[in-house]
Amino acid sequence: MAVALLVAAGSGERLGAGRPKAFVALAGRPMLAWSLDAIRAAGIDDIVVALPAGHDAPEGCIGIAGGATRSESVRAALAAAPPSDAVVVHDAARPLVTPEHFTAALEALAHADCAIAAAPMTDTVKEAGPDRLVSATLDRTRLWAIQTPQAFRRAALAGALDVAADVLAQATDDAWLVERAGGTVRVVESTPANFKVTTPHDLRLVDHLLADRLSRPSAH
Ligand code: CTP
Ligand code: MG
Repeated sequence: MAVALLVAAGSGERLGAGRPKAFVALAGRPMLAWSLDAIRAAGIDDIVVALPAGHDAPEGCIGIAGGATRSESVRAALAAAPPSDAVVVHDAARPLVTPEHFTAALEALAHADCAIAAAPMTDTVKEAGPDRLVSATLDRTRLWAIQTPQAFRRAALAGALDVAADVLAQATDDAWLVERAGGTVRVVESTPANFKVTTPHDLRLVDHLLADRLSRPSAH
């Protein structure tokens, strides 16, 4: 069985909403509530939430204080999680995630230490130096934009997180920590619809999309 770690302890500086991003209202509910629905609908009942100071855990979840960096929040959440074979980490900043994202990532653990939601790149990606001169155009057919959820065999995640704080601070995702520890990481195809809310523009977009979801007869 899997446990879920929902990281929600960031301050949301780029969003600039005057409160932690995971607690900004989206279609009438705090942002993190949307991810919790998807986690539960995937059949995962053990959920640890990394929280910013002054915020309580949602009902039915274990709450812990987040760390100074995202990976420190993940490490603190893992330490508070009940025993399990698998762990799935998700950013509260991706409220459009579906139950299928969780089940697909967990199923792919049959083939790797870590399995991560990823969307094929649609933009062309180029490399440029500080002078803004392009030095390379990357082969788009081999590129993936990485998202969460990210699922892990628990021992692989625990080992990968057992590193110095400066290494944790460099990590923009947890899969990279598994990669540098020599573990295997597999991508699981997702779509750009599971985007991360980072800027005020993203918030407006996701608010419209969730309000639209609620207005449809099939919404529950
Ligand atoms: N996160 C966390 N603990 C931290 C930093 C980030 O739990 N110390 C979480 C955020 O709450 C978010 C996810 O990690 O759900 C992805 O981080 P990001 O999108 O960067 O969110 P923030 O750090 O809140 O935003 P910003 O970087 O703009 O301040
Ligand atoms: Mg951040």
